[in-house]
Amino acid sequence: MMPDMKQYLAGRTLILVSNREPYEHTAAPDGEQGTAGESSVQVRRPPGGLVSALDPTMRCTHGTWVAWGSGSADRETADAEGRLAVPPENPAYTLRRVWLDDADVDGYYLGFANSALWPLCHMLLQHYDMRAEYWERYKAVNERFAAAAADEARRAPNAPVVWVQDYHFALVSAMVRERLAGERRPAFLHQFWHIPFPPPDILRLLPTAAYSGVMRGLLGNDLVEFHTDRYALNFLDCVDEFVPESRVDRDRRRVVLGDREIHAGVFPISIDAEQYESLARAPEAAERARELRHRHVPPGGCLGVSVDRVDYTKGIPERLRALDQLWTDAPELRRKLTFIVVATPSRSELRSYKTLEEEVVASVAAINAKFGDAEWTPIVLLKENVSADGLAAIYRAGDVCLVSSLQDGMNLVAKEFIACNVDGNGVLVLSRFTGAAAEIDDAILINPFHVDGVVEGLRHAVTMPVEERRARMQRMQSQLHRSTIFDWLEAILARVNELASGPAELRPPTDRPVGSDRAMRVGAADASAA
Ligand code: ADP
Ligand code: F6P
Repeated sequence: MMPDMKQYLAGRTLILVSNREPYEHTAAPDGEQGTAGESSVQVRRPPGGLVSALDPTMRCTHGTWVAWGSGSADRETADAEGRLAVPPENPAYTLRRVWLDDADVDGYYLGFANSALWPLCHMLLQHYDMRAEYWERYKAVNERFAAAAADEARRAPNAPVVWVQDYHFALVSAMVRERLAGERRPAFLHQFWHIPFPPPDILRLLPTAAYSGVMRGLLGNDLVEFHTDRYALNFLDCVDEFVPESRVDRDRRRVVLGDREIHAGVFPISIDAEQYESLARAPEAAERARELRHRHVPPGGCLGVSVDRVDYTKGIPERLRALDQLWTDAPELRRKLTFIVVATPSRSELRSYKTLEEEVVASVAAINAKFGDAEWTPIVLLKENVSADGLAAIYRAGDVCLVSSLQDGMNLVAKEFIACNVDGNGVLVLSRFTGAAAEIDDAILINPFHVDGVVEGLRHAVTMPVEERRARMQRMQSQLHRSTIFDWLEAILARVNELASGPAELRPPTDRPVGSDRAMRVGAADASAA
């Protein structure tokens, strides 16, 4: 349940800054224009962990969310300053849209953020592509978001807490700090880094000005938050290496720079577990799950599910290769194990993503042609954006959920599957390179780079006795309910409140992982230990 935010915000106003907006308005395509009286503008919630996690947060805190207005009908649905009340059907907070032109999107979003930082942070160097203009545009767009955030901070009725999200805005906090210097009410600035943070040897592949700028920008925060301790330690190592005038205290997860202290904290993100569970328990979800199984799974068979944006970090080709090998090595699983693969196109303007989309479609077609027949389609590929209740039904229908990310900051899909497994006998097969693997005990851990290990993990999952499946799922569900999105939020805001309220030396460090004292170790069952 959502904690009492007022207690933690202590009268402060929350201003959140992210690249992706929580509600995007798009003009309906030609031919789908509404008839008289109907709106031709559609609203959608973009897929992705960040939006899924933070919209419930903002609904409760009633602050302002500053984000890129990326929808084709975004301007006409906002006021002259880009502001509007959201959620559209039941307004609870303000969305302030920042406008980007095509050159901004190319250089800042597709360029520096997603062709340079994204592959480096995920340590997938073959996708790294850096140009001088990417960095210039990234700085300019960060400045524009900083201006909007500083403007919202000045309008706030109370002292502001500015909460920057992710790798799109490594420079924003330092810029906001500079813009608000001398204001009567000091802002507290913090940033959540939703993706892995790389070690210095990887970050130094950026040009010197860029890696130094990124690190100095992040040190504009009072607190920088990560999913795991490993990412926090990588961050401190990068500070040590690239900001020589700073003093790094690894034991206290703290940096001293001039007269300021910057803290690094560990806060694994989660989901609204109750909400997902109740979506999955709804009679419509039960009906839809039955229908899916009836349509796709032969009687007595087993259903595997996976849900991702099509992104090279998610290990989708690796997953398909493992399924191909599984049905080759274990013919008895043909017509027995069906997979529903939800794979929604993402960042399609980038060639590596477009190529991946095509590769996924072609591989699925090849596997279906190789093993399928008139009665059975081995892999059902769904490419569309699926509503939350639709996803809940898919998760509920699944006996096995396979998450095969090559690297993933957290991976919320793993947690959504656990929450929606209301029959209590599903098995989670989870990449050990997700933040979630450091938190969730009782998943079958796999190394997605090692196809034999994935096959072994899947065989283990489909042959696991029902008592063991139930026992594991029960433990994973209890663990999840002790560490929800609200625990995450509460832990971060408690830490912010503590740091914003007085000198750090007077207090013992308290930023331990939320909800679990096991959060930093890896689960017991590891199919790919070899
Ligand atoms: P990332 O943030 O890298 O996309 P996560 O697994 O952490 O990865 O979060 C993905 C989020 O996006 C989840 O909440 C998931 O339900 C949602 N999502 C993924 N694919 C779809 C889809 N096809 N339709 C709707 N939501 C999706
Ligand atoms: O979680 C990482 C992240 O980049 C989020 O910031 C983002 O919302 C999600 O992945 C989806 O990516 P994008 O916003 O580029 O579509």
